[in-house]
Amino acid sequence: MPDKIIGFSKLSRDEKIRWVTKNYLDNSNVFESILNKYLNDDEDIQSIHNSLSENAVSNFYLPYSISPNFLINNKNYCVPLVTEESSVVAALSNSSKFWYDRGGFKSKVISKIKTGQVHFKYNGNAENLEKFTNENKHRLIEATDRITEKMRERGGGISKIQLINRSTELNSYYQLHVDFKTIDSMGANFINSCLEIIANKFNQLMNDSPHFKESEKNLEVIMSILSNYTPECIVESSLECKIGDLGNIYGISPKEFALRFKGAFDIANIDINRAVTHNKGIMNGIDAVLISTGNDFRAVEAGVHAFASRKGKYKSLSECSIIDNIFKISLKIPLSIGTVGGITDVHPMVKLSLQLLKNPTSDDLMNIICSVGLAQNFAAVKSLVTTGIQKGHMKMHLINLLIKQNANKDQIDKSEEYFRDKDINSQSVKDFLDQN
Ligand code: MEV
Repeated sequence: MPDKIIGFSKLSRDEKIRWVTKNYLDNSNVFESILNKYLNDDEDIQSIHNSLSENAVSNFYLPYSISPNFLINNKNYCVPLVTEESSVVAALSNSSKFWYDRGGFKSKVISKIKTGQVHFKYNGNAENLEKFTNENKHRLIEATDRITEKMRERGGGISKIQLINRSTELNSYYQLHVDFKTIDSMGANFINSCLEIIANKFNQLMNDSPHFKESEKNLEVIMSILSNYTPECIVESSLECKIGDLGNIYGISPKEFALRFKGAFDIANIDINRAVTHNKGIMNGIDAVLISTGNDFRAVEAGVHAFASRKGKYKSLSECSIIDNIFKISLKIPLSIGTVGGITDVHPMVKLSLQLLKNPTSDDLMNIICSVGLAQNFAAVKSLVTTGIQKGHMKMHLINLLIKQNANKDQIDKSEEYFRDKDINSQSVKDFLDQN
């Protein structure tokens, strides 16, 4: 086992690679050689990537794919997607094409408030604290004026500060709960900076205040941080058509298909085993757009799954209804994203994605992302209640199995025809390679 290393980040790239190779990879030079293959020849691009993360020694590629025909609020989008899951883009393209001829997606942003909290402990009189907070809210907001100036010019900024007393649940625990409007940015840095200023000012005002006894001036700020739970930053997309317009799907009548499809949604609504997988399918599409547009998919994932449990039980995020002969599915999710700030104007591929989407506002991008999530959900459940998921999955996975077993180009070219009517699995791929 190697000794603990101090100052790894200070080593040069070569030194870092040498150290890792010596200590973890038996001095094999394969590590360095593969890392080098993945470096970009363009020094400017490589230096952007190096600057994105500490200790970066190479790049990690994922496929960058395109899914056309996304008709959203009557606008036709070509959506950039970054995902390693082979069937996701095929499923999305299938879904977007299907719904293009049936009116496309309708989508709207319902609300766009983000929040953050100053979490603190206070041992004095609760009413005193409440009165003091109400009297000083404007001072707390004024303290952030310098950093909120640009955001206020664009119509955003801090919209509300509330004191929340949670001392019955946790001894002496209170929050300053702050609402923000961050317009086209996700706003994480903006929110966190404001909260830290508010926390300092709150502390200072309390120390200077004549309203508190000396013994009460013992406010202890635990932390100041945005919340990735954004139930007031919501978008909803839907798809609908007459049942008959669904057409025959894999030989199943439209009515039967609609009923089977709704049956699957009903299950996801009551059973957590199914709900989590149902929602994972939705996130397959959502994450792929979040990554291609440089958004924080971890933040969205965390917020979305908490939202799925907002009624005290984890449920499906999407809904399906059949009313008066109309088949409808909809998806309502919290989405805190941005089209400016972060890496949106740093990462060349992210800039390209936003250009491809015609430089969307954050509202536009929320509508696109939610629609893509719904499209993915439709495609997955459509397969599940008809052919089963493995048919499409394994077809897309065939190429992975072939590459894993060192197929040559000729074998890969022949494989599609060969497997058209056969099961695809490791053994059948091995048999095919032995024979061809
Ligand atoms: C696989 O990545 C996603 C699905 O499992 C989603 C679903 O079951 O709805 C196919």
